[in-house]
Amino acid sequence: MASDVEEIERRRPESLEPHPKNEEIYGDRELESDEDSPFLESIRENGVLTPIIVDQNDQIISGHRRVEAAKQVGLETVPVKVREFESDLTRLELLIHSNRQRSKTVSQKLREAETLEQVERRRAKERQGTRTDTSRSSEQEDEGGLTRDKVAEKVGFGSGTTYHRAKTVWDARESDDPTVSTVAEQQLEKLDAEEQSISAAYAEVKEAERRAQDESDESDENSEKTESASTSADPRVTLLQGDAGALPLPDESVDIIVTSPPYNLGHERWAMGWRSLREEGVGYYDDRPEDEYQEWQQELLSEWHRVAVDGASLFYVHKVRIDGGEVIHPVEWLRSPANPWAVRQEIIWNRKATHNHEPTLFRPHDARIYWMTKGTPDVPEDGIDLASIWDVYGPRPDTEHPAPFPEEIPRCCIEAVGTDGDLVLDPMGGSMTTCRAASELGYDSIGIDLDREYILSSCIGEE
Ligand SMILES: C[S@@+](CC[C@H](N)C(=O)[O-])C[C@H]1O[C@@H](n2cnc3c(N)ncnc32)[C@H](O)[C@@H]1O
Repeated sequence: MASDVEEIERRRPESLEPHPKNEEIYGDRELESDEDSPFLESIRENGVLTPIIVDQNDQIISGHRRVEAAKQVGLETVPVKVREFESDLTRLELLIHSNRQRSKTVSQKLREAETLEQVERRRAKERQGTRTDTSRSSEQEDEGGLTRDKVAEKVGFGSGTTYHRAKTVWDARESDDPTVSTVAEQQLEKLDAEEQSISAAYAEVKEAERRAQDESDESDENSEKTESASTSADPRVTLLQGDAGALPLPDESVDIIVTSPPYNLGHERWAMGWRSLREEGVGYYDDRPEDEYQEWQQELLSEWHRVAVDGASLFYVHKVRIDGGEVIHPVEWLRSPANPWAVRQEIIWNRKATHNHEPTLFRPHDARIYWMTKGTPDVPEDGIDLASIWDVYGPRPDTEHPAPFPEEIPRCCIEAVGTDGDLVLDPMGGSMTTCRAASELGYDSIGIDLDREYILSSCIGEE
């Protein structure tokens, strides 16, 4: 943290330089236009009482408004404390912290949040650069930034959910769809003018997005169908762009399914390359009301059951989530009568790493793999020679996909139950890890994903 040089010095307010981030974050704050404002009145009468914090180059870190007011009322000098800062990051943190008590617009809070997240990302990177302890994963370090709740608290949004909703409105200003971006701009203006609640603005933007999506779905349906099918360089693998909830496959045609759906982790859209370059427009929707999400999972399970042969196995990778202190366990929807599969066993996957860590909890290194079957499972005659806890290191640095599983996961699943001639499917294939493993084990497979970019970047058979 900063080391405090105790003496209070005096400087001419004109000699102090504003921090550029102050203008960037709070730039649209109304400065004191009213000459009789109580704030100016007090500075005029008493001068500046609380010292301005500056760095060693006389750049203001805390006290921009007091310096402006001092200039406005013509004070000759103001008290300053000069501090040494370890880095730009500690400067930025204090700059934001010193604005904590002020009333801020939603835009200002969002710019603060953006800056804090940048600070935290840079910190994580620095830690990664200096770290020698390999017991924590690089993925954890990459992504172990401030959690949503913490950012929300620091900038004054009340809760992580409120922050997330406000950020959704903010980000939607950059939407490719002009209707969505216009709605977002209008809603943000209303928020800043305190004429609209964050929940209502969020609902307006989501509605605009839904309308835009419906229109684009309609035009997609009319466009050439050939776009959706894609062969791969590996003759054993068929890759298709499609919806896992409406598979372009006949009834009872698949023997083994290995898949991992989005986990509803609250990221509005997983950008491809969360850990590398963000690519505009690529990514999947991963933020639904939980009830809706679980219903969706049940619909997917039913559709996958339709395409599975009798005796088929489904390996469904998920995790136990903790949201606002509440545990959400996959068994909640897997045990529902709406799930036509028989849940046969829960496998604990020890990933040895996590990418969503809340520091006040034990690090969640475990994921779950649910082995489900359609009727009596087809298993090899000599049985399954594997324990129900799998130690497989989770993070994969070799793909741009934000949430791939390591190849060993589908390999173990397929090896455990596979018999000659089986057809393997991953209906949410992402970087197509399942297809890769299936091919290596000598099985034909089909990989499907909603996102064409993921399919194209999977480079199956091109290694
Ligand atoms: C957790 S990732 C799967 C990653 C994959 N196991 C791998 O190793 O790369 C979930 C995938 O589901 C895809 N997805 C999301 N909604 C989908 C849908 N309705 N139909 C098909 N794929 C979908 C996403 O694009 C994403 O690639």
